[in-house]
Amino acid sequence: MKTPALPMIERVLFTEEQVRDRIREVAAEISEHYKDSTLKLVGVLKGSVFFLTALARELTIPIKVDFLAISSFSNHSGSSGVVRIAKDLDEAIEGEDVILVEDIVDTGFTARYLLQNLAGRGPNSIALCTMLDRKSKRIVPLRIDYRCFEIPDRFVIGCGLDYQQLYRNLNFLAVLKPDRH
Ligand code: IMP
Ligand code: MG
Repeated sequence: MKTPALPMIERVLFTEEQVRDRIREVAAEISEHYKDSTLKLVGVLKGSVFFLTALARELTIPIKVDFLAISSFSNHSGSSGVVRIAKDLDEAIEGEDVILVEDIVDTGFTARYLLQNLAGRGPNSIALCTMLDRKSKRIVPLRIDYRCFEIPDRFVIGCGLDYQQLYRNLNFLAVLKPDRH
């Protein structure tokens, strides 16, 4: 399918087909690794919802899903590293195999905080799956178990990622024009 030309987009990073193919590959890895367990996907509202549902549809094993929401406080240079849970999971994860599903890992503050918080609830295992990895901006060292794409240090929209709450519904990943943010 042709990617539409939109005025806020500088360039397309990954097309709808590329995103779908890569999600399918990662889903196959996850389905194989967790074939003997019941997996729980934990999504972070709102950005990861789009990726989580796309991933979930490609998994061939039984899964459960749950969501939490966070508020993070940013300073002028970006993320301040202060994260708080604004809406918690609906159910306990004790004894379960859990994958934290993120839209993007940037500095790593959010993912580290959430992984530590979830690990404290006694899951059988906990892993991290992210659609995007902006490795060049990492401040907190993290092990990423499943990743779809590594991206450059540019502001990205689409597939759940927003700019001022807009553009989450684009089916492809694109760099936002610098004069738009
Ligand atoms: P960090 O890893 O704690 O720095 O936080 C990453 C969070 O910042 C993500 O969950 C996004 O909400 C947001 N974010 C970082 N980079 C982008 C981007 O390029 N586009 C949209 N949101 C972003
Ligand atoms: Mg987010």
